[in-house]
Amino acid sequence: MKRQFFALWPDADLRQQCLQIMQNIPISLARPVTPANLHVTLQFLGQVNPDQEQALLAAAETLCISPMSLLFDQLNYWRKPGILCLSSHNYDNQVSILAAQLAAIAQDNGIQLDQQPFRPHITLARKAHAALAIEFSPISWIDHGFCLVESCSGNDGVVYKVIQRWELTTVPNS
Ligand code: 2AM
Repeated sequence: MKRQFFALWPDADLRQQCLQIMQNIPISLARPVTPANLHVTLQFLGQVNPDQEQALLAAAETLCISPMSLLFDQLNYWRKPGILCLSSHNYDNQVSILAAQLAAIAQDNGIQLDQQPFRPHITLARKAHAALAIEFSPISWIDHGFCLVESCSGNDGVVYKVIQRWELTTVPNS
């Protein structure tokens, strides 16, 4: 079994923009995530067996959706998971459609999902214990693809490994 999730994965420029904001988070307030792990979760899957993984790969291949844009303009403290994250409240409907399609293919393949509403966010730091008010330049995240990612636990902590990336295609108007 593998622990997996679908996500938007940043390019070097987006990662750098996140890092600039992270530099203003005091280490005494929260533990920054590993820069290589920065992402936007579209659908958390949890434990996936090899047959389910093959089925998810095949089903995701059939999805046809347009490029997506999200504006991350708020830095939030979410008390329960204990994270500081950038959240987006201004994003294309395509993002929600994709997240719903990914939830549907997961459920079609026997994966039980938690019923949390989809809230696009980028976790910048964990083990946070208070909010932080800082000025920052909002991040405009434009993406043409999404990924299936595996969460691997090692001696150096959790490493996220991109298993597969799909580039999005624009559906022609009919
Ligand atoms: P995050 O998106 O807030 O950072 C892999 O664990 C990723 O899936 C993490 O980025 C994590 O939180 C997200 N995630 C979403 N729902 C989860 C859940 N029920 N359990 C663990 N991680 C979850």
